Amino acid sequence: MNASIYNCNVIELPKIHNRAGNITPVSSCVEIPFNIKRVYYLYDVPGGETRGGHAHKQLEQLIVAASGSFDVVLDDGVIKKTVTLNRPNYGLYIPPGIWRDLNNFSSGAVLLVLASEKYTEEDYIREYEAFLTYKK
Ligand code: TYD
Repeated sequence: MNASIYNCNVIELPKIHNRAGNITPVSSCVEIPFNIKRVYYLYDVPGGETRGGHAHKQLEQLIVAASGSFDVVLDDGVIKKTVTLNRPNYGLYIPPGIWRDLNNFSSGAVLLVLASEKYTEEDYIREYEAFLTYKK
């Protein structure tokens, strides 16, 4: 699929309210359109730091601000769009073929990623010019 940023959606996840705290459950192919094979999380990001700076060939992801907030800059090679994530019951779905930069991390932010594939460096496109060529 030659995805555009219009294929990136913010998904409202369930929130089970409890006066002692809330729960947000996410299951493969229920709230999100893929099977979860890997979970990872980014934390202790120093102020002013930018992460991401790559696209994926096959990987689908849901990105959640499990704590704090940050911005995700999406780029399909033609259009860019910035999405701010700041609530644990909303996730940003990113299909393959989208360049992303992650910035504006708040202090203590935790960026949770649910991913459709195991880690493999071959799935990454880390050079922006190579990404533009890949999208043509
Ligand atoms: P990367 O995906 O480039 O980080 P980010 O998008 O958050 O800036 O990964 C950073 C490093 O961590 C890179 O050397 C690969 C390694 N890594 C793994 O070994 N396994 C993983 O599941 C992930 C996501 C990264």
